[in-house]
Amino acid sequence: MHVILMGPPGAGKGTQASRIADETGIEHINVGDMLRQAIRQETELGTKIQSFVEAGELVPDHLVVDLMKDTLQDLNRRNKGVVIDGYPRNLAQAEALEEMLSELDIQIDAVVYLEVEEEELIRRLTGRRVCRDCGATFHIEYDAPHKQGICDECGGKLHQREDDKRETIEQRLKVYHEETEPLIEFYEERGLLMRVDGSQPIDDVSTSLLEVVGELSG
Ligand code: AP5
Repeated sequence: MHVILMGPPGAGKGTQASRIADETGIEHINVGDMLRQAIRQETELGTKIQSFVEAGELVPDHLVVDLMKDTLQDLNRRNKGVVIDGYPRNLAQAEALEEMLSELDIQIDAVVYLEVEEEELIRRLTGRRVCRDCGATFHIEYDAPHKQGICDECGGKLHQREDDKRETIEQRLKVYHEETEPLIEFYEERGLLMRVDGSQPIDDVSTSLLEVVGELSG
């Protein structure tokens, strides 16, 4: 099964993609996490992209397309299904993805769009806290860790993502509307788009999503 999870910043893509992967055994490609890891490890890619990510801008297409190509080829060799979160973000990336998939003879089964109102997105992003060690995600109100500031999974320290500051969130939302939103129509035209109400509580969104994914896998 090959699924793309789409939605604005803070819609819950990362949270839900990781649950789908846990429940179904398919892999989770989280492009944002891969880029942040490259920045943390100060790799050549990391140095090139840091200023874009921290400003809430899209990283140049050729860098992300190359990263995606390598990841998909690797996945294909291992014959694994996937839930992709954070790609594509614009038309050029979507077209590049179609080309990559056709070379690998892979079909996308569905593009699931998580719908959430803007006010709620801002509440989610400003309250998000992420573990510095294992990357687990929490929310100070909706999904609070048992001990404030400490990761439930590994005991690491929680922090606020650099791009979760108010001004950067506004920029990310602007980029989303301008660049990524047109992909809704792109995938609708291909008969692949499925909408899920992402404004429900986390567990309810997971239930709705797993129903959709369950139908796909038969
Ligand atoms: P990325 O990390 O992908 O950021 P994003 O798309 O802005 O998405 P987020 O990670 O902010 O949100 P999410 O939808 O995953 O929500 P989450 O589950 O964490 O990308 C970051 C940057 O990398 C981009 O700005 C860009 O610079 C670069 N980049 C990435 N991909 C790129 C590409 N393809 N091309 C170019 N550049 C690229 O949830 C958010 C919070 O809400 C959490 O605290 C969570 O606990 C809480 N929450 C989740 N669901 C619910 C719910 N149902 N109810 C209540 N709370 C909830």
